[in-house]
Amino acid sequence: MARRPDIPLRHGRVLIVVTGALPAAFVPSWILCLREWYGWDVRVCVTHAATRLVSADALAATSGNPVLGPDWRPATGRVDHREAAAWAEAVLVVPATANWIAKYAHGITDSLALATTAFTTAPVVVAPSLGPLAERPATLRNLRTLREDGVHVVATGSGVSAHSGTRESGAMPSVDSVLATLARVTAADAEGPR
Ligand SMILES: Cc1cc2nc3c(=O)[nH]c(=O)nc-3n(C[C@H](O)[C@H](O)[C@H](O)COP(=O)(O)O)c2cc1C
Repeated sequence: MARRPDIPLRHGRVLIVVTGALPAAFVPSWILCLREWYGWDVRVCVTHAATRLVSADALAATSGNPVLGPDWRPATGRVDHREAAAWAEAVLVVPATANWIAKYAHGITDSLALATTAFTTAPVVVAPSLGPLAERPATLRNLRTLREDGVHVVATGSGVSAHSGTRESGAMPSVDSVLATLARVTAADAEGPR
């Protein structure tokens, strides 16, 4: 991903929520690109499952900020999910699992990542990684709910499955389509209240 796409993204503070899908492993390189290409100020929040797929050290080093989660820090006197929710000018959930999408669509806030996203008033862009789950009725229902709730869900694409080695649908959308959605959403947000 050495090429900067021709997408007009304005400078800002973006919170990247990383959940436990395989493309989580690529997020550090996304972060470097966002910072270098667009000057984004990036913070990262992870789920437990995400930490199996990408290291907090890589996320902290590439974002230049401490990583939030997967758990709340104990007894700090701070309310991490409210602070992060208020800090963010945009929240990018990349990659988003079927599990995370289901919980978010149902208003479940039993992790720092879910609570932060639920509390923010910033626009939320969700980039799902679903494989065959993209076609399941429950997933389709949950994605429809999110769209109806004003969440910006990027359409999945096709990609090579780590499971079968063959091309399948339901893969995480391309960087270009995620950034194009982010550009559209943040430009609209800058023009007026949502
Ligand atoms: C190697 C690996 C890859 C995975 N990829 C996906 C995926 O692409 N999409 C998905 O919905 N779940 C995937 N999972 C399953 C999730 O990690 C699992 O459902 C987990 O509970 C999600 O937790 P979270 O939503 O809190 O991150 C994967 C698991 C592993 C071990």
